[in-house]
Amino acid sequence: MRRQRRHHGTTPRTTRLLGSLLLVMAAGSVMVGAAPAQRESARDTTPVPLDRVIPAPASVDPGGSPYRITEDTRIRVDGSREARRVGEYLADVLRPSTGYRLPVTDHGRGGIRLRIAEGPYGSEGYRLHSGRSGVTLTAAGPAGLFHGVQTLRQLLPAAVEEDSEQPGPWLVAGGTVTDTPRFGWRGAMLDVSRHFFSVDEVKRYIDQIALYKINKLHLHLSDDQGWRIAVDSWPRLATYGGSTEVGGGPGGYYTKADYKEIVRYASSRHLEVVPEIDMPGHTNAALASYADLNCDGVAPPLYTGTKVGFSSLCVGKEITYDFVDDVVRETAALTPGRYLHIGGDEAHSTPHEDFVTFMDRVQPIVAKYGKTVVGWHQLTGAEPAEGALVQYWGLDRTSDAEKERVAEAARNGTGLILSPADRAYLDMKYDKNTPLGLSWAGYVEVRRSYDWDPGTYLPGVPASAVRGVEAPLWTETLSESGELEYMAFPRLPGIAELGWSPAAARDWEDYRVRLAAQAPRWDALGMGYYRSPQVPWS
Ligand code: ACM
Repeated sequence: MRRQRRHHGTTPRTTRLLGSLLLVMAAGSVMVGAAPAQRESARDTTPVPLDRVIPAPASVDPGGSPYRITEDTRIRVDGSREARRVGEYLADVLRPSTGYRLPVTDHGRGGIRLRIAEGPYGSEGYRLHSGRSGVTLTAAGPAGLFHGVQTLRQLLPAAVEEDSEQPGPWLVAGGTVTDTPRFGWRGAMLDVSRHFFSVDEVKRYIDQIALYKINKLHLHLSDDQGWRIAVDSWPRLATYGGSTEVGGGPGGYYTKADYKEIVRYASSRHLEVVPEIDMPGHTNAALASYADLNCDGVAPPLYTGTKVGFSSLCVGKEITYDFVDDVVRETAALTPGRYLHIGGDEAHSTPHEDFVTFMDRVQPIVAKYGKTVVGWHQLTGAEPAEGALVQYWGLDRTSDAEKERVAEAARNGTGLILSPADRAYLDMKYDKNTPLGLSWAGYVEVRRSYDWDPGTYLPGVPASAVRGVEAPLWTETLSESGELEYMAFPRLPGIAELGWSPAAARDWEDYRVRLAAQAPRWDALGMGYYRSPQVPWS
């Protein structure tokens, strides 16, 4: 997986084809025509059970005849543009592998029907009913329909994810799924600073996380090693501060048009982009770009190593707040989402008093531009603004005092996003042999990553303060999509399940079987993943 560049889709497929060919040859057959017939007879035509889905649905009521997608199937949408858009997305998923036309239409009978209607679904839930005459997805809005479509994909054979025509049959088991998420925040963070990832690479990741009903894409846009978003009023941030990355590669940055394209694409997958400008630490790229931002007026060199905690904005200089105002204004203007993440972690070079002063001045700037503050949980060392959310990234060994400080903030109304590093950090090595990633939070195998409850994780936190979970993917050691995938899969689906499914649904023994069933889908999509020995892959 490691050395795949950009067109990851082709390599695994080619490898598999070669593998099949070798098997056929080993069996002594030189008749190429024999292979499809063998595959036909070996194909399992039992539909995927309704509960073999990740994240586990809230409620499943199996029964009745399956629905079979055929060349006559239509995707029927009600009159709304929103339902039609989800219908077109579904058609784009199904057409290449089925080879069917699958017209998206607002008339006819049967088929796959997408309805927006009142019901007990919330803004993201849905109901899926499948029977002989069709599949009906009902939701209160397009996000629910979109999540329902992800369930429908998983109920079809894995081959549905291939990009060339496959034999089918395309059966959806009979019954009803009624589903609604446990938490409103189900995030994935991508660090595009330590290594830069192109718009296409980010889109590829968006498609992968959307499969598991993730609804926030947190982009870590600035750090010591690179500034990745164009800011018109401070152009050198991107052109100079973005000109390298860990290891000294060429880096890069998103133009405003690039960033808007990421936002647009994320939105088409019902993901809200949460931009992070990490401050006052993790700012070497900015300090290197503008000497005036430094207390001593001297710009440090660009940094391509992996140390943390050595940089700080100059809290006592007014230009610091002009800078923050401009950056927040421009970033907020590009971002339709509600949130702006201001970092606040590992400000080891910022004296505590300065940190408090800085956060007191910066949080109102975020509010002034219409956004809600999100910060790493060190923000609780200052006073989180009213309505702010903090992202907890501590670990088991984090001190009780630090945990209690976060819990107290939660009791005082600050919302929590849980990303415990020794559970949810996708860049931690799985074990000592993992060739990529870091291990400062320990090894995080698949079970450890899945087997915890965000609702009760931090002592003294009221359940209502927990807004959800997020799986961060830091990229000190990761520089291409195949490497992101190897670290994110198979752990990301587990974090997604903790965010979506009822607490009572969490069952490692059941989950690992459902997880194993995802692998053929990842193969079909050309995705990399780690074949953890904890998972019963077939
Ligand atoms: C972090 O891992 N420094 C948030």
